Amino acid sequence: MTTVVMGAATLHLGDAYKIRPTLGWFDADVMDPPYEFRAEGGGHYRQSRKGMAQIVAEKLSDGFDHSVLNPLLCGGAIVFCHNDQLPKLLPYIDGSFERQAVCTWRKSNPQPVANKHYRPVMEFYVHAWNRGFHPRGTLEDLDRQVEAYSPRGKQKFGHPTVKPDKVMAKILRNVAGETVCDPFMGTGSTGVAAIRAGKRFTGIEHNPQHFATAVDRITAAVEAAREAA
Ligand SMILES: C[S@@+](CC[C@H](N)C(=O)[O-])C[C@H]1O[C@@H](n2cnc3c(N)ncnc32)[C@H](O)[C@@H]1O
Repeated sequence: MTTVVMGAATLHLGDAYKIRPTLGWFDADVMDPPYEFRAEGGGHYRQSRKGMAQIVAEKLSDGFDHSVLNPLLCGGAIVFCHNDQLPKLLPYIDGSFERQAVCTWRKSNPQPVANKHYRPVMEFYVHAWNRGFHPRGTLEDLDRQVEAYSPRGKQKFGHPTVKPDKVMAKILRNVAGETVCDPFMGTGSTGVAAIRAGKRFTGIEHNPQHFATAVDRITAAVEAAREAA
């Protein structure tokens, strides 16, 4: 396992299912795991659904093992998920945490509609918490919906499912506590937002290319925070 430490960030290259249980307690697990949805089809709109081939190749439509979300190891959790996952994910979270809120990120630039389905205007994330780790922030932060553009061009960092800074900044204002872990770090969007919010961050990613991108992005965030201090 390769580990990179810079400032308040520690990044592990490896398997979340093996590494996360060894890391112990974090105030919040903020995770954007592989979604579970039917990635085939789409008819003639499929050619406009950029990134779908990469999503399938990197197994980002195969779902995740819920046990990586362990209420004994975190006070609160954010879990991004696809519409189709909610029926399975919500009962697991309901059995693990005292409270939960289903929140949405409304896309200003949604993908074109796939045949015989709704337009994917919304993405979901569940905020779950146990006593003492309830949502934080201003009245505006506590809105369950945030609207943002899906990253485009260079902002995608070669990854098909990068989350927007605006969404991650809101989430990091909402989670309680000082320490955050993202076991499915991707290009490091949670880490960048965590460092900007003054929290300590630990990330895990198994794809070496995305790990390298996360190291670059989070190093820049750590250096910017140092300069601003
Ligand atoms: C939905 S993406 C996260 C994207 C991230 N939120 C961003 O903005 O860049 C999920 C990530 O989890 C990684 N991943 C999948 N299974 C993993 C595992 N078992 N251990 C570590 N990383 C894993 C994938 O390589 C992918 O980059």
